[in-house]
Amino acid sequence: MKILVTGAEGMVARAVSRVCVGLGDDVVALAKRELDITDRDAVSRLIGGGEFDAVINCAAFTDVDGAESDPQLCYAVNAEGVENLARACRDADSVFVTISTDYVFDGSKDGFYDESDVPRPQSVYAAAKLEGEKLAAASYARSIIVRSGWIFGPGGTNFLSVMPELLADGKKITAIEDSFGTPTYAEDLAGHLRRLAASGSEGVFHVVNSGEGTSYLGFAKEICTAGGFDDALVAPVSSSDLERPAPRPWSSKLATVRGGTLGPMPDWRDAVKRFVKGVGFGA
Ligand SMILES: NC(=O)c1ccc[n+]([C@@H]2O[C@H](COP(=O)([O-])OP(=O)(O)OC[C@H]3O[C@@H](n4cnc5c(N)ncnc54)[C@H](OP(=O)(O)O)[C@@H]3O)[C@@H](O)[C@H]2O)c1
Repeated sequence: MKILVTGAEGMVARAVSRVCVGLGDDVVALAKRELDITDRDAVSRLIGGGEFDAVINCAAFTDVDGAESDPQLCYAVNAEGVENLARACRDADSVFVTISTDYVFDGSKDGFYDESDVPRPQSVYAAAKLEGEKLAAASYARSIIVRSGWIFGPGGTNFLSVMPELLADGKKITAIEDSFGTPTYAEDLAGHLRRLAASGSEGVFHVVNSGEGTSYLGFAKEICTAGGFDDALVAPVSSSDLERPAPRPWSSKLATVRGGTLGPMPDWRDAVKRFVKGVGFGA
């Protein structure tokens, strides 16, 4: 397939490019400076000609706390930017895959959220991502919207992704013990994104690693086990101890009811082992 990957310098985009190249796809991966998805004309010019079989949108405003003080930019990227891509894909008859978030849910459900649960976003970031989902579906009914959460991988700058390096340097970290999610390895997510792009599917899919999910503390301990790091470096903290601008759901664990039809996702603990090994630690 000829595939356009947006937001090419991001963590998931890099994984998607690696996976697609590995499968022999012709990949055009463009960073923000090469394609700003908020630039409707540029998006339309690039995609509208019908050159791409599929567009996998990995571009996003991902600073969850920063979004609270810059809602305009967050909406421009996560809602209008997604709409720009969906419209261009519709015009070109290209497959459109875009990534959304577990944070569209409010966390009040006792259990896992599946694709039929009703979103109720709590933060500017989450509301903008949900708006992006709606605009994508409204402008191009064949849009594929993939909700994922707690994504970690090489090159990532989020807390989950930088843990191995911090712990290997002997740095002490604090990890939230009362916030729960379903961790997702960027490489595994990328495989499912590519499968979806080739599947002829449409609509919302949840894609996360399998297992019961965990807390940030549980994730940190698993990183210690996989990397042989001293777990005394990890101290528990309560989410209420951290004064963060954006509210987060206390639990945003996703169930992959529709996403599971693409084939099983590996258990998150297995994914942590592969991740830690991939970044040069552990056995
Ligand atoms: N990481 C997670 O735990 C998580 C959880 C659930 C869902 N997601 C979703 O997964 C997707 C990928 O996230 P990620 O973790 O790979 O994020 P990331 O590493 O922050 O990558 C996002 C990329 O998008 C770029 N970008 C920002 N604005 C853009 C624009 N207007 N046009 C083109 N590119 C733009 C960013 O560039 P700059 O850095 O230069 O701004 C960055 O390279 C996003 O949709 C995110 O919402 C992530």
